[in-house]
Amino acid sequence: MKVPVSKPLFSELAKENILDALNDKAISGLFGKYIPEFEESFAEFCGSKYAISCSSGTAAIHLPLAAYGLKKGDEVLVSSLTNMATFFAVMYTGATPIPVDIDLDTLNMNIDDLNKKINDKTKAILVVHLFGHPVDMNLIMKVAEDRNIPIFEDCAESHGAEYLGQKVGSFGTAGSFSFFANKILTSGEGGIVTTNDSQLNDKIRNIKSLAFGDEDKFQHKDIGFNYRFTNLQAALACEQVKNADFLVNKRIEIANFYNEEFKNYSDVINLPQQKNYAKNVYWMYHMVLNPNEKLFNSRQEICDRLGEKGIETRSGFVPFNLQQIFIKKGMTRPEDCPNASLTAKASFYIPTGPDISSEELDYVSTNFKMILDSLL
Ligand SMILES: Cc1ncc(COP(=O)(O)O)c(C=O)c1O
Repeated sequence: MKVPVSKPLFSELAKENILDALNDKAISGLFGKYIPEFEESFAEFCGSKYAISCSSGTAAIHLPLAAYGLKKGDEVLVSSLTNMATFFAVMYTGATPIPVDIDLDTLNMNIDDLNKKINDKTKAILVVHLFGHPVDMNLIMKVAEDRNIPIFEDCAESHGAEYLGQKVGSFGTAGSFSFFANKILTSGEGGIVTTNDSQLNDKIRNIKSLAFGDEDKFQHKDIGFNYRFTNLQAALACEQVKNADFLVNKRIEIANFYNEEFKNYSDVINLPQQKNYAKNVYWMYHMVLNPNEKLFNSRQEICDRLGEKGIETRSGFVPFNLQQIFIKKGMTRPEDCPNASLTAKASFYIPTGPDISSEELDYVSTNFKMILDSLL
């Protein structure tokens, strides 16, 4: 049996929508009914006033930072353990990202390290709701309010996640979601920005599409980007948003199944958490081998042996403070974020995509437990 980490799941409506977009000849990012439909339905899903589609999750992080006006000399505090796209997006603006350490349980931004690293050059905080678990936003919002600086949310992995009953992406100045093929909702590639700020909405809409002029289209208002999402992608994305509750619940069901199956191993493996303030949507079933226990150095062996059984795994992210290119440039040091470094040595995830069958889930679980038993 071969079980990939993620297979997307579509209903018939996805095919109908795509065919419809093709028949309409509306394939670009400038025309077609599916783009506004996607944006309106996603804004509603997220509980935000505006949603602006774009070409990727990375673009969705870059656009609001650029529209807000971040520039060289500004510092942005960013959760160190993330997909490096979060950091790259800050660098595109010329600003300097400063890595902030994480909590070992949720893997999200640590409030003490945030307070330690904040200073007069800090112009924004960029949190990441990692692996579907929301950040403890009240703590971060208090710091941001005291300093009068904005918060941006990287929600690439957390469609539908909630903090105290409110959807992520609706707290900060802007939220950024990815629609890459392995994400909770997908259109293959793509992204969307959420915001409640009408001026930011206007500016993002303009700069994402080459900053065309209002009266004279080719008298551009700014240096723009082509970060447009296409109507073809939107045709697919509309179907995903319609089925969002189902797709989010599917991830939760998969995580609940694994949690039950692996509960006897929770002393040697830190299983995904759900804090009492959180609705975790478990983008991927991500585990960390307990640093104080026997299996801490066994990630490679566990993943290799799962691979021999046809079960795909991925190692967890390498945080900013362990990225060789940035260490060499003197932008960070491994010791800047000890919790992120510790987590990176022993984290990995197993198949979690929405199209996984119950036979496949049983197969993954049985083999995983067998491998653990042989190592303990
Ligand atoms: C936390 C996080 N941020 C940003 C991104 C970038 O999204 P994309 O690949 O759509 O550009 C991803 C995923 O790829 C991600 O997981």
